[in-house]
Amino acid sequence: MTTNLKEYSNLRLSIENFIGKIQIYRPEKRNAMDPQSWAELDCAVAELNDNDGVRVIVITGHEKTFVAGADIQWIHDRKPLDIYGLAVQDVLLNVYNSNKPVIAVINGYALGGGCELALACDIRVGCETAQLGQPEINLGILPAGGGTQHLTRIVGLAKAKEMIFTGDFIDAEEAHRLGLLNHVVPNDELMDKAYEIARKIAKKSPIAVQMVKIALNQSPTTDLPSGLALEKSLQAVLFSTKDKKEGTKAFLEKRKPIFKGE
Ligand code: COA
Repeated sequence: MTTNLKEYSNLRLSIENFIGKIQIYRPEKRNAMDPQSWAELDCAVAELNDNDGVRVIVITGHEKTFVAGADIQWIHDRKPLDIYGLAVQDVLLNVYNSNKPVIAVINGYALGGGCELALACDIRVGCETAQLGQPEINLGILPAGGGTQHLTRIVGLAKAKEMIFTGDFIDAEEAHRLGLLNHVVPNDELMDKAYEIARKIAKKSPIAVQMVKIALNQSPTTDLPSGLALEKSLQAVLFSTKDKKEGTKAFLEKRKPIFKGE
């Protein structure tokens, strides 16, 4: 049930059964993100982060588009140093560092900043007609929403170079093969698949899920001893929770645990 949520112009927000859903909604521009859209996305993620009734966030688009990138009219009209006033990297970092798992539900085109938004999410599920790409090169610019960094970590340097140098879109099947999509499903099963995963995660201890995300997000950039030390410290935190008591007790009593996030 959705209660007391903020109103947004370029997106729709709802919460049901511990799952917060952000639908980017700017259909006349194929969900292209202007500064207001980025600001609203940032605000919506912060709102869901702060809501204890949300354990998983789902981000999706509208009709045949997830997000068609940054607003090209806006880019066209900008001067060089305007880029320093642009919060896209910060917004996408806030998605990446959200204290809840974020699932990108890619219902069509995920291009430019749309692909980067998907890359900032933890899990990506796409429909069979999804297309992903970093076409910024066709505009004479580069992917500056983390694309040159996150894409290499997911698909490898060689494929990232090919995608960014050519600007070519890849289809859902190839994206799946490259590990860019965790799952590809028929279009009419997309939301069900995403919610199946979201519901499964929402039943776990939200504190354990949060600690796991912190540890995993450090793994690409940290050295092994530091990563292992972090892992152990986070485990020490989890050993102090009621959820850990409940999880272990439930196993021993041969029943399903009920995690309260305490
Ligand atoms: N920025 C601003 N407007 C955009 C946009 C973007 N990134 N993507 C689409 N639009 C607008 C189009 O200009 C068009 O506006 P109009 O109706 O006023 O002419 C409207 O959205 C519909 O787009 P259209 O191209 O007609 O739809 P389509 O279904 O034929 O193609 C896309 C969809 C997504 C493949 C195509 O719009 C596209 O390639 N968009 C740009 C992708 C891109 O380069 N992103 C990186 C930006 S850095």
